[in-house]
Amino acid sequence: MAAGQVLVEPAAQWALRAAWHIADLVDRRVEAGGTCSLALAGGTTPRPVYLRLGQPPLSDRIPWPALQVYFSDERALPPEHADSNFRMASDAFLSRVPLHPGQIHRMEAERRDLDAAARAYARQLPVQIDVLLLGMGADAHTASLFPGDPALRERRRRVVPVLGGIPLVPRLTITGPVILAAAEVVVLVTGKNKAGVVAQVLEGPVDATRLPAQLARDRWWILDHDAAGRLGKAHR
Ligand code: 6PG
Repeated sequence: MAAGQVLVEPAAQWALRAAWHIADLVDRRVEAGGTCSLALAGGTTPRPVYLRLGQPPLSDRIPWPALQVYFSDERALPPEHADSNFRMASDAFLSRVPLHPGQIHRMEAERRDLDAAARAYARQLPVQIDVLLLGMGADAHTASLFPGDPALRERRRRVVPVLGGIPLVPRLTITGPVILAAAEVVVLVTGKNKAGVVAQVLEGPVDATRLPAQLARDRWWILDHDAAGRLGKAHR
């Protein structure tokens, strides 16, 4: 498993620091293998990071032709919906950088048959995602793997339909095996409201059914000071 560590940044520098870290990981994977599969987190936290990926200097630096872009999860909404993870990433940077449409692999969670959509997306996913970005909810969910959900027991399927989250809608999500297999995982968390859960996930007993974000416990975590506020000295 790739190394990981906890990076804590002042709120004012958090997004740029996270964007540079992601760009460095992408560069390393492209240097090593010629291409990079980058899977995006949804929600609201990553948006300022994505904005910086889509602006100079990073937008001029990232080897866009070598990238294939995927998603960690998606709400069962049309891609133009305000709550769509694809819409958020597309507005923030995908539509602003030189990516060919064929390099962007959207989860078609708006399809009526979500199970078929999940199976179709699993066939698109690479065996190993090079750089996987994740967020974490205040309940320690990550992607759309919610505490206690049967999807957390999935060991064979790599994408499954679930129901949960805010908004409470059906979703498609990658499963634990995809997270565990990823070459690099970067968890992006900000905000005082998540400080307690961050400490439980990173320093508490391991129970990924109750704390799904522990699937990425030993990977990269990029936190602002608020989100890191309850961590012990080991992570400061
Ligand atoms: C989603 C996300 C989800 C998100 C967390 C954190 O579709 O909701 O993929 O896993 O990362 O819910 O959301 P915020 O960044 O909005 O706090």
